[in-house]
Amino acid sequence: MSIQTQEQDFVPTFCTVESIFPQTAIETTYRIRLPGGRVLGHKPGQFVQISIMGVGEAPISISSSPTRGDWFDLTVRKIGRVTSAIHGLKVGDKVGIRGPFGSFVDMEALYGRSLLMIAGGCGLAPLRSVIQYAIDKKEKFKKLSVLYGAKTPDDVMFRDETEKWKNALSFDSTVDFGNQNWKGNVGQITGLVRPLSIDRDTVAIIVGPPVMYKYVIQELDKKGMTSDNIIVSLERYMKCGIGKCGHCTIEHLYCCTDGPVFWLKDVMNLKGAL
Ligand SMILES: Cc1cc2nc3c(=O)[nH]c(=O)nc-3n(C[C@H](O)[C@H](O)[C@H](O)COP(=O)(O)OP(=O)(O)OC[C@H]3O[C@@H](n4cnc5c(N)ncnc54)[C@H](O)[C@@H]3O)c2cc1C
Ligand code: FES
Repeated sequence: MSIQTQEQDFVPTFCTVESIFPQTAIETTYRIRLPGGRVLGHKPGQFVQISIMGVGEAPISISSSPTRGDWFDLTVRKIGRVTSAIHGLKVGDKVGIRGPFGSFVDMEALYGRSLLMIAGGCGLAPLRSVIQYAIDKKEKFKKLSVLYGAKTPDDVMFRDETEKWKNALSFDSTVDFGNQNWKGNVGQITGLVRPLSIDRDTVAIIVGPPVMYKYVIQELDKKGMTSDNIIVSLERYMKCGIGKCGHCTIEHLYCCTDGPVFWLKDVMNLKGAL
């Protein structure tokens, strides 16, 4: 497989952390600005490689829509070396950015369709880019719906923003385990899919932990949705992000360049894809 690359794919650009928005105890959103008024030029669903000098590099999905401004957001869960270093950043600090990389949700190709956007856990971060785009071009779509499932009320991300989404689209959420302050649904996200009536023009876009895909897809299948109308975003261990190192393969596919966004029909029969 030969991938066309450019110098900026290999060499990080030093960008500035413009704002920081804590989400949960372990997830924080960083608003990043490129130097010299440049824009990233990303599409919903793509990712960047973010580097912290002397620590390392990690692939992180872009969690804002290109329709929102000349900055971009990254929402990072603190899990290990690089992500802990990112959590130590302050406003004004510099980070290295390579990208944007990977396949994307071709929003223009979906104009005229209904979008059913389903996020589990920190899958809401990448899906937020798609949701914001859809809201900003609302008149281009037939119907917009978002379903979001988190583990507990403390794990719910983008609280203020999701409240505002309710004015623009149909939004429903659930947590696996509630507490006395939680007034919403309790139970798995499949419980939100079950009562839906899905029209023939619907495309489902699913981003979440691997375990979620199987059960959500089963529910969609019961409603007659076919794999050519379902989009999934897959995560694999990545190093280069540009199809050179082979760390991210799913059979013949490179998750970093053929993905991370796939039509379900193209990956459902590949070993270990879902
Ligand atoms: C395309 C893509 C998009 C991503 N988007 C986001 C995002 O928007 N927000 C976010 O917080 N994270 C995202 N991730 C995951 C993120 O890249 C990893 O959490 C990060 O690389 C871990 O680096 P670290 O140095 O902090 O952890 P390490 O110190 O390397 O590892 C800590 C632990 O995390 C595990 N781990 C490391 N990388 C991954 C991975 N890719 N998948 C699962 N487990 C892993 C290791 O096995 C280890 O147990 C994305 C990954 C990919 C491939
Ligand atoms: S991460 Fe190197 S080939 Fe995909």
